[in-house]
Parts: sequence; structure tokens; C-alpha cells
Amino acid sequence: MTPDQKALVKTTWSLVVPIADTAATLFYGRLFEIDPSTRPMFKSTDMPEQRKKLMQALATVIAGLDNLAPLIPVLETLGRKHVAYGVLDKHYDSVGTALLWTLEQGLQTAWTPPVQDAWIAAYTAVAGVMRNAAKTVPNAA
Ligand code: HEM
Repeated sequence: MTPDQKALVKTTWSLVVPIADTAATLFYGRLFEIDPSTRPMFKSTDMPEQRKKLMQALATVIAGLDNLAPLIPVLETLGRKHVAYGVLDKHYDSVGTALLWTLEQGLQTAWTPPVQDAWIAAYTAVAGVMRNAAKTVPNAA
């Protein structure tokens, strides 16, 4: 990611923070719609709590964008945990698509092509660390 892209992700994220729970609700709704195979993974999940966890994780990563190194082990552990949740590599594509769609809804006119590119770069980097860690789990798909 370029420094400009990191700045774009940070400023646009600050616009989403005030509507974090609405955004997270939109996100899961969209995810379950575009990829129904993700729905059963959350059948016993406390969704209000999960919405908080997702937004908190994103906030932490975005705050650390300028220096991701200390977050790499955290993301690797999270990626390995996701294997136990039944998450497959392809699900990261669905989550990325649902996330971009959600940001577009939330940001409206602030959702410009450079902002989109910046978020794609950020998500690809973060998900990439989790996906690679997941591959090190025995019997991971
Ligand atoms: C960048 C990508 C992702 C981030 C930042 C993220 C973040 C998180 C966090 C912070 C938790 C809570 C972990 C804990 O309680 O210790 C979690 C749980 C979970 N995530 Fe993700 N996640 C990502 C991708 C995915 C994907 C691709 C899926 C597949 C649909 C997924 C499905 C789940 C499930 C099923 C749980 C467990 C829910 C439960 O506790 O019942 N996540 N995720």
C-alpha cells in the first residue's frame, strides 16, 4: 500500500466509525446473501457481539496500517483460528466483496475509485496474512 492509500483508508474509516454497528449489520446481511455457505458458520454466534468484534478488529488493523509488523502474529493467529470456525480460503473473497459493498453504502459520495483501490489493497494485505497462516494448519482446505 502507498502512504496515500493508507491515509485514504484511515480517513474513510473515520466516517464509518459513527455508524459501525449499522455497517456491520449491513456487512453480515450482504455476506449471507452473496455467499449462503457462510451462514451456518454463525448459527450459534452472538451476532451483536460478533459485529463488535469485527469492527474492533478492523479498527485495530487500520490504526496499525503504518506499521503492520507487530500485527502480523496477531493476524496469523486469527487466520489459524478461522480454520477451526470452518472458514475456507474462498470465503475470504466473499468477505472482501461484502466489505467493499458495505463501505460503498456507508461512504456514498466519498466512495471514489482511489478509495476503492486503497481498501482493496488494505483488505488484500490483511486477508493475505490470515489466508497464508490458515494454509499452515494441518488438514486446512
Ligand atoms: C480480514 C478478514 C477477517 C477478520 C478481520 C475477521 C475477524 C474476526 C474476529 C476478530 C473474530 C472473533 C475471534 C475471537 O472471538 O477470538 C472472528 C470470528 C469469526 N469469523 Fe472472522 N474475520 C475475517 C474473515 C472471516 C471470514 C472470511 C469468514 C468466513 C465466513 C469469517 C467467519 C468467522 C466466524 C465463523 C467466526 C466465529 C464466530 C463465533 O465465535 O461464533 N471471518 N472473525
